[in-house]
Amino acid sequence: MKHENNWVEKAKKNAALEAVKHVEDNCVIGLGSGSTIAYAVEELGKKIKLENLRVKAVPTSYQTLMLAVRYGIPTTILDENPRLDLTIDGADQIDEALNLIKGMGGALAREKIVASASETLIIIADERKKAKILGENSQPVPIEVLPFAVSHVTLKIKALGGKPQIREGAGKVGPVVTDNGNFIIDAYFGLIKNPAELERKIKAIPGVVETGLFVGMTDIVYLGKHYKVEKLERKK
Ligand code: A5P
Repeated sequence: MKHENNWVEKAKKNAALEAVKHVEDNCVIGLGSGSTIAYAVEELGKKIKLENLRVKAVPTSYQTLMLAVRYGIPTTILDENPRLDLTIDGADQIDEALNLIKGMGGALAREKIVASASETLIIIADERKKAKILGENSQPVPIEVLPFAVSHVTLKIKALGGKPQIREGAGKVGPVVTDNGNFIIDAYFGLIKNPAELERKIKAIPGVVETGLFVGMTDIVYLGKHYKVEKLERKK
């Protein structure tokens, strides 16, 4: 197990190093959330210092905001910079068309907004995240929901054939509350043959703030493997 963790952490870090190479002087970037992104934030902080870069970042969670502050990365907000040059983010599952499931860290709504605001979306992950079809290995689709609507959305997800589970967290009793003050439903759909259609159907439910299905958004994936990093690019 320890051995497994070693290569996974190295793979995440190596993928992060490749992504950070895309950051140039005067870039405004989006920074996702999660354990892989933590490596990218640290590396970016070093790069900014070493190369004296004028870079600003929009963090997508309190986790990333705090890391950005720790590593000396100037932060900004979308209201000041509504167009971003690139976003670097992690993922929970990546299919062959580079569609994603994201949100196991609960930051999916802000992550999708910065991805949409960006010229280029770069995803970094270790190779355990690669899947033939989204939903493999009982991977749920995280859905951010207004607390007022949680029971209503639960019924609608069931009607779509999903098994919804309100996410409960460590460190607190009851539902996880996102950085936006909402709840997360983890919805199990089995194999998702048509992610675009499922995304449309879930988004159409009143009370759904955002889903963790990122369809057709990714430009580049750096996939950390045992001894190398594989670069995958979306076919345009
Ligand atoms: C955060 O909400 C997620 O979308 C993360 O990007 C995703 O869970 C990947 O996290 P790790 O890098 O920790 O696996």
